[in-house]
Amino acid sequence: MLSFFVLSLLCPLLQPVLAVTIDMEGLPDTGLDTSSWTTGVLPPLEDIWDLNDMQIAAKNVLSGKFYASYRTAALNEYTYQANLNIYSKVRLNGFGFRDVSNLQTSTTILGHNFSYPFFIAPAAEAGHANKSAEASLASAAGKAGILYVPSISSTLSIEKIAKAGLKDQVMFHQEYIWSNTTQVIDELDRIKAAGFKAIFLTVDNTGINGIRTRSMRYTAGSDTGHAANFDLNSLAAFRNLTDLPIVPKGIKTWQDALTCLHLGFPAIYVSNHGGRVLDGAPTSVEILMDIRKNVPEVFDGMEVYADGGVRRGTDALILLALGARAVGLGRPPMFANIWGEAGVSRLIDLFSQEMKTSMQLMGVSNVNQLNTSYVNTNAIVF
Ligand SMILES: Cc1cc2nc3c(=O)[nH]c(=O)nc-3n(C[C@H](O)[C@H](O)[C@H](O)COP(=O)(O)O)c2cc1C
Ligand SMILES: *[C@@H]1O[C@H](CO)[C@@H](O)[C@H](O)[C@H]1NC(C)=O
Ligand SMILES: *[C@@H]1O[C@H](CO)[C@@H](O)[C@H](O)[C@H]1NC(C)=O
Ligand SMILES: *[C@@H]1O[C@H](CO)[C@@H](O)[C@H](O)[C@H]1NC(C)=O
Ligand SMILES: *[C@@H]1O[C@H](CO)[C@@H](O)[C@H](O)[C@H]1NC(C)=O
Ligand SMILES: *[C@@H]1O[C@H](CO)[C@@H](O)[C@H](O)[C@H]1NC(C)=O
Repeated sequence: MLSFFVLSLLCPLLQPVLAVTIDMEGLPDTGLDTSSWTTGVLPPLEDIWDLNDMQIAAKNVLSGKFYASYRTAALNEYTYQANLNIYSKVRLNGFGFRDVSNLQTSTTILGHNFSYPFFIAPAAEAGHANKSAEASLASAAGKAGILYVPSISSTLSIEKIAKAGLKDQVMFHQEYIWSNTTQVIDELDRIKAAGFKAIFLTVDNTGINGIRTRSMRYTAGSDTGHAANFDLNSLAAFRNLTDLPIVPKGIKTWQDALTCLHLGFPAIYVSNHGGRVLDGAPTSVEILMDIRKNVPEVFDGMEVYADGGVRRGTDALILLALGARAVGLGRPPMFANIWGEAGVSRLIDLFSQEMKTSMQLMGVSNVNQLNTSYVNTNAIVF
């Protein structure tokens, strides 16, 4: 111990190496060893074996401010933590005596074919991780055949992101409800002209963002420009502004799910925004269970997507079994983007391998077979 101390005094060059111990934030311990990493330096992608590793690598390499901007959540971050922890309460039923020699993972989302039922969710400012910003997300998604839905608060323009995709790649686009209607109209027109095939309309920042202490320590929160007076009449007016299919994002109650069904939306997106808006909001597992209990017709009448805390292939399988047709990843692709496209591609590879392995172990040969018979939710009380 003493010689260690003397050595680091004598040799300042060794200090960054010796100093790398990273608070892993209570993420599952799978033996990631960061002792050879250097603070601020990108670790080799070959050291990375799961999505949590990618978060720790991003924490090592990004400035405190930019890491916080991705990692932050609202108030006590109860919902953020619940998103991560809820999956440990769900048991997966694995059936034997089934032919799982030929696994089918492809599915359709709003009628478009994709190779997997998971997608890259809208997340602002990918440029904080890598200069290529959203371009590497679009390109990695296109090559893997998965859906990417860029945020309207992206680093790159709508048109640049569209161009970064492959020819014929299907992407959707997220939009916010700005109080400036001219801006909404302009953006919807540009999104359509750039070739995006649907709009994820985020309805859960009702005029304001959550109070995100972790990131406010670096940058105080400010006016979002979101409309606080957005009601059902405004929603009807919004639907007149584009002929692209609209998917309300941020549905947190069975009542709102039912409203969207009655209003004839083709899909809803169940989400608590990664715990970044209403702290205390339920997780997608709980919301999907609540919808099934109260208004199961929602699952027959429209597609349902879901997200929040999905870090393992098994997390995605749980949401799919509870009725989601596709599952979003928010933070992980942002973290993976510290290596640019190679990182995002590795994320898709690792995550899809986890999903396929677990499907096979559950006796599921086609993702579209997943239903509630594969999950035991007895430990979830609400
Ligand atoms: C850094 C960051 C930025 C985000 N920006 C947006 C956004 O611009 N629009 C939006 O609808 N959701 C946004 N979200 C929410 C994500 O779409 C998604 O719902 C959430 O991150 C899922 O939880 P997860 O991060 O645990 O996967 C953002 C999330 C993060 C982490
Ligand atoms: C989607 O996949 C189905 C089944 O593989 C195929 O019949 C259909 O033509 C594909 N559609 C598109 C748009 O590629
Ligand atoms: C509203 O948006 C339009 C289009 O983006 C912009 O030109 C205009 O300056 C905005 N108006 C206000 C009051 O911010
Ligand atoms: C939507 O457009 C239709 C046709 O132009 C019009 O009749 C209707 O009043 C509009 N609805 C809203 C809420 O603006
Ligand atoms: C950023 O992304 C680009 C494009 O994918 C990649 O070439 C580059 O290596 C990335 N930067 C770092 C530091 O990895
Ligand atoms: C779930 O799927 C299995 C196998 O595909 C089927 O036998 C079963 O009836 C379904 N169960 C429910 C609850 O839908």
